[in-house]
Amino acid sequence: LLVAAALFVAAFLLGSVPWGLIISKVFYHTDLREHGSGNIGTTNAIRTMGKVGGYAVFVLDFGKGLLSGVLAWWFSWQFLPGGGLVPGALVSYDTMLAVAFLGCVWGHIFSPWLGFKGGKGIAVAVGCLFVTFGWVGACLELLIFIVLVVATKRVSIGSIAAALSCPFFSLYYFWGDWIAVALCTLAGLTVVWAHRGNIKRLRDGTESRIGDKKKA
Ligand code: G3P
Repeated sequence: LLVAAALFVAAFLLGSVPWGLIISKVFYHTDLREHGSGNIGTTNAIRTMGKVGGYAVFVLDFGKGLLSGVLAWWFSWQFLPGGGLVPGALVSYDTMLAVAFLGCVWGHIFSPWLGFKGGKGIAVAVGCLFVTFGWVGACLELLIFIVLVVATKRVSIGSIAAALSCPFFSLYYFWGDWIAVALCTLAGLTVVWAHRGNIKRLRDGTESRIGDKKKA
């Protein structure tokens, strides 16, 4: 359990690095939080800083997610008997993957460096999922996201749908490991919660569409 707690803290700290804000401050001398939707994620970074800055934020946020998955793997092999893969392990490898996923997403959404505010966790979650569910699961999640974004021209709809599908993916991948399923579900629901402003705007009909330059 101590190993899982240490992994959670490490993934949380990794997730808490606010790349969107750092890039906007260092390279664009502006604060992403004062533009567009005020979010520090990829969508608002593209909206505010253009493609180069926006993609840089995506790669870095995605990267910290991916790295948290690598951390889960490393912690497991370093500190758990049989890497957590032995039957009846107190903490299983799947649970470790889910712990890192939740830790990194929470670190990003509740960044202590930003007064426990942060981003909405999409790029980070995608990075994590490449390890948590593997590349097939992550690509399927991405597909849900892309199809809905293209169909509705609203990034948030794709994001919310992908986040809502996360519990179902976790049921498929971690069936029987209910702690892992619960942690993944919690991560998905937190991402939906982080989109509460978007949900309100969608209901009001004021959510910005792709291509809009105006304030969301
Ligand atoms: O991933 C964030 C996206 O779903 C919405 O971003 O800036 O439009 O609130 P934004």
